[in-house]
Amino acid sequence: TMGPDVVDIRGLTAKGLFTYDPGFMSTASCDSQITFIDGDKGILLHRGYPIEQLAEKSDYLEVCYLLMYGELPSAEEKEHFVRTVKKHTMVHEQLSFFYRGFRRDAHPMAIMCGVVGALSAFYHDSLDINDSQHREIAAFRLISKMPTLAAMCYKYSTGQPFMFPRNDLTYAENFLHMMFGTPCEEYKPNPILANAMDRIFLLHADHEQNASTSTVRLAGSSGANPFACVASGIAALWGPAHGGANEAVLSMLEQIGDEERIPEFIERAKDKDDPFRLMGFGHRVYKNFDPRAKVMKQTCDEVLGELGLDNDPLLRIAKRLEQIALEDPYFVERKLYPNVDFYSGIILKAIGIPTNMFTVIFALSRTIGWIAHWHEHHSSPIARIGRPRQLYLGEKKRDYPER
Ligand code: ACO
Repeated sequence: TMGPDVVDIRGLTAKGLFTYDPGFMSTASCDSQITFIDGDKGILLHRGYPIEQLAEKSDYLEVCYLLMYGELPSAEEKEHFVRTVKKHTMVHEQLSFFYRGFRRDAHPMAIMCGVVGALSAFYHDSLDINDSQHREIAAFRLISKMPTLAAMCYKYSTGQPFMFPRNDLTYAENFLHMMFGTPCEEYKPNPILANAMDRIFLLHADHEQNASTSTVRLAGSSGANPFACVASGIAALWGPAHGGANEAVLSMLEQIGDEERIPEFIERAKDKDDPFRLMGFGHRVYKNFDPRAKVMKQTCDEVLGELGLDNDPLLRIAKRLEQIALEDPYFVERKLYPNVDFYSGIILKAIGIPTNMFTVIFALSRTIGWIAHWHEHHSSPIARIGRPRQLYLGEKKRDYPER
């Protein structure tokens, strides 16, 4: 399918060099300075900083700053950044009516696709994508409002009133307050759970050209507004092979139901005639280990210890499954290790977050990555609309039949 002048497929011709690379296994769609991954060595760097160091020494909002501006902030810059994020945490009151148009049992990702896209109808003063100040305001609005919008999805599903954000709390504490607080009782954040929440946000902040980020960049390349672009990222993230995986992990653990049934599911995962796969195992890029999964595993142990949940039946199935799979030659030979979603699903379940909110939390965390890539695309002097080619394998030209 490659030739200097002409490609001839079933009699049709295309001029120029032509590559065919399903799944983008070896094609870069852009150049970027944000995130580096070496999947074989298990390395993930944001702007050069290893993810393990960021998880230990930094916090989510500082990583947001780093991804957006390329450098770690000074103390004053960080203080100003956090203050600006807090300034934008409220959402337009009309948006609450938008929520009321959805069924109470709607999947929260379906609601998120709608409400995030709809932000462009509420904040049209920051939609000039050629103006870097507009791009910055849109970025702040997205980072600030995502926790509010996400928690509103949950509150709507339970029939409880929406909680206003509290700007005296940290980003993670405020999210937990909007999820679990009520007007009758002040929410008292547990520092270990708030720290785990912050780590989940931080570890999901960016992962270079994954399916949802590439979707956001592609949508952005047409000049679409940032809110619409992020909504497209949310849609792409929803799939079980991507962001839906941590939700799928919990569904799988519930389906297994009993430690004794684990071998049966392991055998099903190995059977090529069975579509079942072990959810939360394997990664397109990390073929050794996922550095995020290591940090997440540690956080998982902290949370389970704090909540005294070491003996929770579902979590015991998870731990046993991990043990059995890590010793099974099928998984070892194919380098299928638990990924970040395996542990994040367990932590979120332990914190009390319902399964159908897991992918929403991933979307909330990844918003900064999407927006940093969208911004990078528009800052590039060679930015142009993305238009992939295709390898046409359909019918040759044929005439409409006489009837
Ligand atoms: N369970 C059982 N077998 C698996 C699994 C799994 N979870 N993952 C891969 N394999 C097998 C494949 O069947 C294949 O076997 P073969 O060589 O005998 O044919 C081999 O391992 C290689 O798998 P590929 O599908 O080629 O790997 P790919 O890189 O395309 O897929 C993916 C990666 C989609 C993540 C896959 O491992 C998977 O479906 N995992 C479960 C879903 C999941 O956890 N997704 C989260 C990804 S992380 C994230 O989005 C943050």
